[in-house]
Amino acid sequence: MTVKAIVFDAYGTLYDIQSVAAITERAFPGYGDLITQIWRIKQLEYTWLRTLMRRYEDFSVVTRNSLSYTLRILGLNYDESLFEQIMDKYVHLDLYPDARATLQSLKKHKLAILSNGSSEMLTTLVRNTGLDSVLDATISIDTTRIFKPSPEAYSLIEPRLNVSRAEVLFVSSNPWDAIGAKAAGLKVAWIERVTLQAMAQACSRADLVAPVTMFKALRMQMDELDLAPDYTINGLSGLNQIA
Ligand code: LAC
Repeated sequence: MTVKAIVFDAYGTLYDIQSVAAITERAFPGYGDLITQIWRIKQLEYTWLRTLMRRYEDFSVVTRNSLSYTLRILGLNYDESLFEQIMDKYVHLDLYPDARATLQSLKKHKLAILSNGSSEMLTTLVRNTGLDSVLDATISIDTTRIFKPSPEAYSLIEPRLNVSRAEVLFVSSNPWDAIGAKAAGLKVAWIERVTLQAMAQACSRADLVAPVTMFKALRMQMDELDLAPDYTINGLSGLNQIA
């Protein structure tokens, strides 16, 4: 079966999500990289948690909540206008340098994005970066209200592009997305942007942030999922005060 449609993930695949570091660093000198990484990790985590809790909110909400989380747990003060300036980068993300030319060279296929982004975020981003002239469709999962890597999300491709699953090549650099598409029965190309060799080199350098600090930042602070515990105690013995 020949490939009739090539469908791309957006954030991290066509668009460089690390490009938010320019604005996060300008807003909070010295913290740019840390904000950028915690923000993205929490953003993805919230999509999966919301799906499992059956409390869907679209990707723009999840992206805002994960940014609030990040700035709060790092103890950074900000006003609404600074927050909005950082958020605005999400509709002006940098394209990977080879993205535009590659899409143009593949024009004989149907070309589309399938992304967890909300329709509004995606159409604005695509328009702002001029990809609307090369893409045949920008598909958001917000009609299914379930994020990738759920199979329901990938099943939006066939009816929208009028192709069968076997005629689709799905492209992602996000490993969880590449595997999710595979699990949903698609043919998949994974973009390995960081080789094992590059990883080994990075790991041999002294790290600015201790891994345990990342763990504390990501797994030990209260999340932004619109719910709060009834009690907050600072140790098991605190239970004596409430029960
Ligand atoms: C996307 C993100 C989540 O679906 O990578 O575009």
